[in-house]
Amino acid sequence: DIPRYVKIVEVGPRDGLQNEKTIVPTSVKVNLIHKLVSSGLSVVEATSFVSPKWVPQLADAKDVMDAVKNLDGVRLPVLTPNLKGFEAAVAAGAKEVAVFASASESFSKSNINCSIEESFARYRAVTSATKKLSIPVRGYVSCVVGCPVEGYISPSKVAYVARELHNMGCFEISLGDTIGVATPGTVLPMLEAVMAIVPVEKLAVHFHDTYGQSLPNILLSLQMGISTVDSSVSGLGGCPYAKGASGNVATEDVVYMLNGLGVKTNIDMDKLLSAGEYISQYLGRPSGSKTAVALSRI
Ligand code: HMG
Ligand code: MG
Repeated sequence: DIPRYVKIVEVGPRDGLQNEKTIVPTSVKVNLIHKLVSSGLSVVEATSFVSPKWVPQLADAKDVMDAVKNLDGVRLPVLTPNLKGFEAAVAAGAKEVAVFASASESFSKSNINCSIEESFARYRAVTSATKKLSIPVRGYVSCVVGCPVEGYISPSKVAYVARELHNMGCFEISLGDTIGVATPGTVLPMLEAVMAIVPVEKLAVHFHDTYGQSLPNILLSLQMGISTVDSSVSGLGGCPYAKGASGNVATEDVVYMLNGLGVKTNIDMDKLLSAGEYISQYLGRPSGSKTAVALSRI
């Protein structure tokens, strides 16, 4: 049985734009967020309060947040890699944050410049600060199946990192196939290991589409009871510290599949398509969503 309602976490403005070669102007980011929100998405990850030296694409986090913080009826989480980022996020008006750990030691080092254990110490500082302010905090686990350096990552490692994030108070754990190498064959044992430790209602899946496996991976995740799916409009995305990673699964493609399955999302496909058209036109390339390309021909 698959869930009757799926919550989509739109990560385009963050995961999508963090990896663009050129820096997208703040006004374009803000327009994109407005369009995504008007399509009915209930969660739109807006930006990251990370080091501008590491991710110059999102150096305008404060200005983006300032422009969107009062939007009604939507949650706008932001990434915070440490207490410094958390404090800046709160000062800018963020009401929800996310921390991001990795199941791969090498990726932890290259993405956030510390070991997995050191990242837990940083994130405990963040999660205890969130509790004082009653701010919900999401936890990401990266490299849940494969790492660009270490190759295959064992499910028990993923379960361990997920458990730590859950224990420190993350209300939701998003399992990220950062480089998009997973297939249903590797997702299944990974989810089984994590679900033995973290309740399925608290899990989300986050697939990058490098090998075109995201939709089968999502379908399997739904069949296993997961009802929160991360995706990115037009299939934008990728991590600057994960070589070879491609965009996230496209939100339009996920919504098309869910519509076909009769699963509710409360998302207006036409408005979603227009958000995707807007950013694709700005970036000057065709949409990475097969659904968007197909529907634009009709
Ligand atoms: P570091 O260089 O080790 O940090 O970076 P540091 O603590 O030594 O500080 C160095 C400088 O950075 C100092 O400034 C700090 O103030 C400043 P200076 O004195 O040199 O002028 N600094 C900051 N500035 C602004 N905001 C901050 C901040 N923190 C320190 N929050 C750090 C460590 C974690 C900061 C860095 O490595 C970083 O920002 N990494 C972020 C990388 C990133 O954003 N990656 C992409 C997101 S993760 C992802 O995409 C995967 C995901 O989608 C899931 C999946 O696909 O699997 C989530
Ligand atoms: Mg990602």
